[in-house]
Amino acid sequence: MKLDDIKRCAVVGAGAMGAQIAEVLSRTGHYEVRLVDVDEDVVNRGLESIDKGLERFFVAKGKITAEEKKAIMERITGGTSLEQATADVDFAIEAIPEILGLKRETFERLDASAPADTVLASNTSTLNITEIGAATNRPDKVVGMHFFNPVAVMKLVEVVKGAMTSEETVEVTKALAARLGKEPVVCRDTSYGFLANRAYEALREEALQIVWEKVASPEDVDKSLKLGYNLPLGPLELGDRLGSWKRRAEMERDRMAALGPEKGRIHPLIRVMVRAGYFGGPGQKGIYDFWKEVLSKW
Ligand SMILES: NC(=O)c1ccc[n+]([C@@H]2O[C@H](COP(=O)([O-])OP(=O)(O)OC[C@H]3O[C@@H](n4cnc5c(N)ncnc54)[C@H](O)[C@@H]3O)[C@@H](O)[C@H]2O)c1
Repeated sequence: MKLDDIKRCAVVGAGAMGAQIAEVLSRTGHYEVRLVDVDEDVVNRGLESIDKGLERFFVAKGKITAEEKKAIMERITGGTSLEQATADVDFAIEAIPEILGLKRETFERLDASAPADTVLASNTSTLNITEIGAATNRPDKVVGMHFFNPVAVMKLVEVVKGAMTSEETVEVTKALAARLGKEPVVCRDTSYGFLANRAYEALREEALQIVWEKVASPEDVDKSLKLGYNLPLGPLELGDRLGSWKRRAEMERDRMAALGPEKGRIHPLIRVMVRAGYFGGPGQKGIYDFWKEVLSKW
């Protein structure tokens, strides 16, 4: 498969990431896009959110006309049948929940329904591409294509190679990412968290440890990184914004299985915050509140 052979794409899973990926594919003007989810309401909400986002960030700002928006929307078709959506696509991107069994089962179905030379990509953040590819009869055409949230804004795409992923598949995935206006980086799937999340995780763990030792407040730890290393946002305030403390605590079992008890453990500060109900995320208390209300006095 070469970049110019790609005419039709499918995005499987229309949740937080899938709808955004469908939008950037359609905005190129090159692709017919099928957006599929098991839940029809999610598909409709996904299409609605694409429409609203295009209106707010593109039409209202004079970047595209109302007709161009209409054409972008018309290139995207929503549906609930994976088989129908993928029967004639050239490139499929899976964005369903981060559960290995579910991904393997879905790749088996994709393998059965999509044409033999179609590339099957996964937007997984942590799962192993070799293991997902082994559920198909075309592991050479299975690859990771890891977008970052929000997809329209974040430039990075990690192209993740499984043990059996071919160079041709890596090249076409890189080329597609570049056509979407992204900067691809390539890595092997032997790294839990691939590149950016793995390295960032280490930074955040150390920031959490500093607060846990009561060396300084979360605010000052973030400030030191923002001013000392020109980070636009500190890792602790980012955690508060994303609500990642709760998610991280829930991921404990998977991380331990992948990284072993030493590196896979969830930081004790996250555990105690989540136990106390400081989850982070919109409208929720997070580490800044936990410091002020609990830890600084504990
Ligand atoms: N949310 C993020 O910031 C982010 C960033 C990068 C990568 N990812 C990865 O992207 C993937 C999707 O994450 P998300 O946050 O969009 O999840 P999400 O829960 O918002 O969406 C997943 C969607 O998949 C649908 N689904 C479940 N089983 C399906 C099936 N068999 N066929 C079709 N649809 C199915 C669900 O109904 C749901 O709407 C995960 O692998 C995640 O790790 C997420």
